[in-house]
Amino acid sequence: MDKLRKTRVATSSKKWGRYKSSEILPLWIADMDIKSPEFLEKSFIQRAKQNYFGYTDISEKIKLGIIEWYKYKFVNLLQKDNILFCNSVLHGYSIILQTCLPKNGSIIVFTPLYPPLMKIAEDLGIEVIEIPIVKEENYRIDFKLLEKTIKENSEISAITLCNPHNPIGKVWSGDVLSQIINLTKKYTLLLISDEIHSDLILDGNRFYSILDTSFSYKNKMVVLHSPAKTFNVAGLKASFMITRDQSLQKKLVEGLKKNFASELDIFSITMMEAIYTNIKDSYSYINSIIQRIEQNYRYLETALKKQSRCEIVKSQASFLVWIKVKDSACNNSSEIREVLREKYAMDIHEGTIFRGEGKNYIRMNIGCPKELLERAISQFITALENEAI
Ligand SMILES: Cc1ncc(COP(=O)(O)O)c(C=O)c1O
Repeated sequence: MDKLRKTRVATSSKKWGRYKSSEILPLWIADMDIKSPEFLEKSFIQRAKQNYFGYTDISEKIKLGIIEWYKYKFVNLLQKDNILFCNSVLHGYSIILQTCLPKNGSIIVFTPLYPPLMKIAEDLGIEVIEIPIVKEENYRIDFKLLEKTIKENSEISAITLCNPHNPIGKVWSGDVLSQIINLTKKYTLLLISDEIHSDLILDGNRFYSILDTSFSYKNKMVVLHSPAKTFNVAGLKASFMITRDQSLQKKLVEGLKKNFASELDIFSITMMEAIYTNIKDSYSYINSIIQRIEQNYRYLETALKKQSRCEIVKSQASFLVWIKVKDSACNNSSEIREVLREKYAMDIHEGTIFRGEGKNYIRMNIGCPKELLERAISQFITALENEAI
């Protein structure tokens, strides 16, 4: 563990940097403590050796690679023009909101949700209307409430989807997406889908992009994606948007230019080229990561089985787990975070910031070596058994 801490601190890791000189285990921000693929390292070294780092075009090969990549996600017939590069998913999201929403337009989101997808809109002065995801045996969207909300608020002009959904790990089904798409068509709304977690699908679940070939409606939709989570390269700033709607495409090209956001740096270009033109190697890495996450998930499930005060939400994607703490000694999950950090040497994300049901939940990052997870879970169990949280 000390070796991992030392290495990660030496790379100025945000996740570990806060706890340079303490024993605290970081299971908060969403990057993995697992190395990126070796073929990336080789590509970077090769590119560095060329020793020319001037202004650089993004090669066409990357777009062709992304078109292939999306075929694996059952999205066919993409054209090169449908793909627009941006330096990060969140910057791209901000540009979509600034460029494609009418003045005074508001958006709908489903909570609990990855906070920046709400905060970015609010900071732009856009009203965010929250539709709580209903928790029964499974999570579901209340379509009656959704349509009623759209009908009653004429300023609603977009729906922001997170698929797979951070933090609950839900992969939205084809049927759910089809219902959402029908509503966006009926009420002429923009549909923005953040699909950043969509390469890491667990337990053989089927992921549907909103661009899936089975959906015939193609207008007013834009997907955000990036290799950041899948290949643990969040420190490289590269993402892309996909839209088949030509008028949206035009607006976004202008918006990206105005924001100086469409150029990528050399190492991001090298990274994208290595990933999207070596699909076989990339998928072999993805499969190994999925296996590790599934193993960690099973470990977590078994270890926490006897803990009646905590309930794990069965994650269908990615390395973030949403956990309910029942009958907590703390007032809310911000307090839980503080107690875990100060007294039990582990840090997680408090659910409150995700809004919706988040008050009694924490989000734990399990994209790490088993040894780290075992230690963190043991500390978590002690905190539960001591009734400290
Ligand atoms: C759903 C979601 N979208 C976007 C991001 C951030 O993407 P980027 O770093 O490319 O802005 C994250 C990171 O955790 C995320 O979970």
